[in-house]
Amino acid sequence: MSAILIDGKKIAEEIRAELTRKIATLAGRGVVPGLAVILVGDNPASVSYVTGKEKACAEIGIQSFETRFPEDVSEARLLDKIAECNRDPSVHGILIQLPLPGHIDERRVIGAIDPAKDVDGFTPINLGRMLLEEPCYVPCTPLGIIEMLTRSDVPLNGANAVVVGRSNIVGKPLANLLIRKSINATVTVCHTGTKDLASKVKAADIVIACAGRPGLVSADMIKPGACVIDVGVNRVPDATKKKGYRLCGDVDFDAIEKIAGWITPVPGGVGPMTITMLLSNTIDAALRISSGK
Ligand code: GUN
Repeated sequence: MSAILIDGKKIAEEIRAELTRKIATLAGRGVVPGLAVILVGDNPASVSYVTGKEKACAEIGIQSFETRFPEDVSEARLLDKIAECNRDPSVHGILIQLPLPGHIDERRVIGAIDPAKDVDGFTPINLGRMLLEEPCYVPCTPLGIIEMLTRSDVPLNGANAVVVGRSNIVGKPLANLLIRKSINATVTVCHTGTKDLASKVKAADIVIACAGRPGLVSADMIKPGACVIDVGVNRVPDATKKKGYRLCGDVDFDAIEKIAGWITPVPGGVGPMTITMLLSNTIDAALRISSGK
């Protein structure tokens, strides 16, 4: 038996096709959605993510406005830039690529984003609204994972879901979305302090690996037929590759693919969905802002 491959690229393309209708509605209002992209330093992974996001924006008809700051930029300069984006009517969404350098207070910087333009869903206001199930921007990776699961008809009602990782960006919001009544999973969150990770994962109908550790989830931990979502994007040195590395997730794909019911590849799984949800949130922000609501 081999798992059904959840093709994130294909699902992302379907959603992007759906989004073009909203772009047309905006065009009818004379509005071009705009995304401000702020990048600090030249971390190769961050540069690559930002390039991917900007390319996707251009393809669908979102204007992106990139500002790159040197690694040693001051917090005050960043806060000025955010204030400028908050005021700028051509900017509907603001994305600050994380992580930020250690001398910057990430919380203060994120907290300075106008929640109405917080298309990453990282501000305390949007995270609080998400918890309360009020209208808000939901972080893109968790939102993309929920879309992948529902569009692939993975049974969620009453399922045991194990989230391996507790970041503010993925693990925490995802666990929260999965326990909503509309989804109705029972969630266990595992982390570096978890005793006997294997037995927790083994009980799962759905495993979401978002710890950023290559090979953390092995085949012996997986219940046959389970759905395995791999959020990891790890660069592993590989001299046979032109770039000198290959991308690998947090799960042992080759072995797990043989026993799981569903599995996502890396690359081509969660990554394209994250970018698509950023497009979706930015378009929704432009719709809300331009309707005056
Ligand atoms: N760094 C890693 N993932 C993300 C993301 O989804 N958004 C932003 N802004 N930074 C990230």
